[in-house]
Amino acid sequence: MTQPADTIRAVNRFEGKIALLTGVASGVGRATATRLASEGASVFGLDVNADGMAETQTTIEDAGGTMTTRLTDVRSVAECRAAVDDCVAALGGLDVLGNIAGIAAQRHVHQVTEDEWDMMNDVNLKGVFFLTQAALPHILEREGNIINIASNAGLMGQAYTVPYCATKGAVVNMTRALAMEFVKQAIRINAIAPGGIDTSLVHNFELQNDIDFALMQPYTGYRDMSSAEQIASLFAFVASDEAGNIHGSIISADGGLTAS
Ligand SMILES: NC(=O)c1ccc[n+]([C@@H]2O[C@H](COP(=O)([O-])OP(=O)(O)OC[C@H]3O[C@@H](n4cnc5c(N)ncnc54)[C@H](O)[C@@H]3O)[C@@H](O)[C@H]2O)c1
Repeated sequence: MTQPADTIRAVNRFEGKIALLTGVASGVGRATATRLASEGASVFGLDVNADGMAETQTTIEDAGGTMTTRLTDVRSVAECRAAVDDCVAALGGLDVLGNIAGIAAQRHVHQVTEDEWDMMNDVNLKGVFFLTQAALPHILEREGNIINIASNAGLMGQAYTVPYCATKGAVVNMTRALAMEFVKQAIRINAIAPGGIDTSLVHNFELQNDIDFALMQPYTGYRDMSSAEQIASLFAFVASDEAGNIHGSIISADGGLTAS
């Protein structure tokens, strides 16, 4: 019998550590902020959704943890840099960066507009790169680590989600390229590639009414979706010292989706 991930507490692996996380208003970002705070981290959370961030903050504080929030749109390079500066000024440094915020949409290729393409790239890819660039000097200083939330969509072709797959494939290889550039320094850079997760990203997915469902089967899979807490649990392990030899890895958590 497996124990639900949200009832498992390893130890206080993040006591004295500072974690900057994006997307903390919802889903995986909220679960990760809650998990790291419960293990002693001081969390600096970013999102465009102020109400959602406040809810996450209340949950964390009610449980005795701490999270500072900053309304930040990761599409803006200036905002990414200012958020890192504010985190370091407020909390004294940076040990863990979690690039978690992301958006998805289902479209036929011919429906995708330039604005939709730019939006997908700016949130899922540009934001990840420039927040990483701004955080790296601090991560290097404290010998910390970076985790990008990619997707099974970065490892396989999925029908009707071509821009999403393009951004997540880019995040996968950006993670590997960053890992190689810093392979001689004492920092770690990894990605987690979840399959379907039971979050608002999936709940708000608008299916096109003329799709061929057989083409969706390969990325729907055979098992239940992950919970956000299961992904947060994996994030906490990879971000902790227990994962000291994991660098440049793309770690799947997808119920076998990408096994074939
Ligand atoms: N849900 C899934 O099935 C699934 C599967 C694989 C990967 N992922 C990835 O997991 C990550 C988290 O997604 P989730 O499922 O928790 O979705 P979610 O919608 O619950 O959370 C995403 C968060 O990102 C925030 N966000 C969106 N645009 C932003 C911006 N410009 N700046 C700052 N914050 C912004 C949203 O406000 C929201 O709080 C994403 O990168 C997503 O691509 C999700």
